[in-house]
Amino acid sequence: MKIARFSRIGFILAAAGSAVGLGNIWKFPYITGEYGGGAFVMVYLFTVMLIGFSVMIAELLIGYLSRRDTLTAFEVLAPRHKAAWKWGGFMAFTGLLIMTFYSVVIGWIFNYIFVSLGNLPSSPEEAAGLFKTMLGSDVKTQIFYHTLAFAIITAIVIRGIKGGIEKLNLVLMPMLFLIVGGMFLYATTQTAFAQAWDFMFSADWSKLNSEAFVTAVGHAFFTLSLGMGSLLTYSASLPKESNLVKSALVVVALDTGIALLAGLMLFTFLYQYGAEPSAGPGLVFISLPAVFYEMGTLGNVFAMLFFISLAFAGLTSAVSLVEPMVQLAIDRFGWSRFKASATMGLFFYLVGIAVIYSGSSDYGALLTWDGKNLFDWIDYITAAILLPTGGLVMAIFIGYVIEPNRVEAALKQQMGFAYGIWHFSLRYIAPVALVIVMLNMMGILKV
Ligand code: PHE
Ligand code: NA
Repeated sequence: MKIARFSRIGFILAAAGSAVGLGNIWKFPYITGEYGGGAFVMVYLFTVMLIGFSVMIAELLIGYLSRRDTLTAFEVLAPRHKAAWKWGGFMAFTGLLIMTFYSVVIGWIFNYIFVSLGNLPSSPEEAAGLFKTMLGSDVKTQIFYHTLAFAIITAIVIRGIKGGIEKLNLVLMPMLFLIVGGMFLYATTQTAFAQAWDFMFSADWSKLNSEAFVTAVGHAFFTLSLGMGSLLTYSASLPKESNLVKSALVVVALDTGIALLAGLMLFTFLYQYGAEPSAGPGLVFISLPAVFYEMGTLGNVFAMLFFISLAFAGLTSAVSLVEPMVQLAIDRFGWSRFKASATMGLFFYLVGIAVIYSGSSDYGALLTWDGKNLFDWIDYITAAILLPTGGLVMAIFIGYVIEPNRVEAALKQQMGFAYGIWHFSLRYIAPVALVIVMLNMMGILKV
């Protein structure tokens, strides 16, 4: 099968576009707030470098060596038990499951871009009310913006790797860097910047518990887009002469950089206007709009730019969540790209509507089991079980199963002395950490 290849810069931006997402700008700041700042940030940075980076190289390698879709890649690379290994293709489906709520959240963000243009909520209470109304009773607005997200994402995936995904990232990623960079520079001029810096970088180790460690590992995985075949699928279209190690380093650096900038910027704004950093998931939808209100007209502009940057980050990740299943359907089942994209798009679109209803006050109870609604369940199953399993499968596959000389031939020269450290971390540290995270999130092992 002939696949269109990325250009070198196109690949870096697309992989960074996948990694830099809602996880960086929405989730990282609020979990840092919940776990008390500095010490959590240190653990997170450490896990990203040791575990995240190792698994990323493994995932890129599987795509690069096989040049195939997520399912076929395992099948062709496995030296034996090919029929069993092709079940590794399950991870392509994880992305589609994540998309059922990721698209809904992108819809909320679209809505907040328009909210930013009008009257911002004037107090945290009013902001909380606005957010809760959208979730509880304003199903129509949510469906409208979810439909918009579905249409944009599907239209881009239909255009393929070169004409759709690469182009999208070439345009949106530089704009995202500009907006986040610009807002960050503004934040550095505020008096509260020092306080935000302190909160993020002075580690109070007494605040650190084992739960923070598990959260850090789980988030390191999610934020780097690992364990579901996104980077595998992209690296199947790498230009021949690419350096996997350098690419991985750049992607990890950009992802971490954006998370740190977003965190510093948000905490500066929150401190400057007397809000608390520990607000939880509502941080950017509740605390932040109220803070932007305090800034006056400039606040409207900032709010709009902020939600636009969040939308860009979300869209470039979304295409990478859909593409693995699309490639699989094209490569394996011989579907046309149009048919594959439309089918996968309709899947996340329709399940996404059920996800919206599961958060509503009228129908929520029908879509709730065991105290978790459909949204919570899909989030939980993907983050707690499927992503870590995907990571584990790839770490074992590259660490133990594939012929070692193939791995060495591809990486040893690029990595030099670090090769041994990487291999050790992939074989021993990453699998153990992933199993602990999984057992803990499933409630089997209490840490
Ligand atoms: N890395 C993205 C984020 O930080 C989410 C994502 C996960 C995207 C897995 C693709 C694959 O939001
Ligand atoms: Na990320």
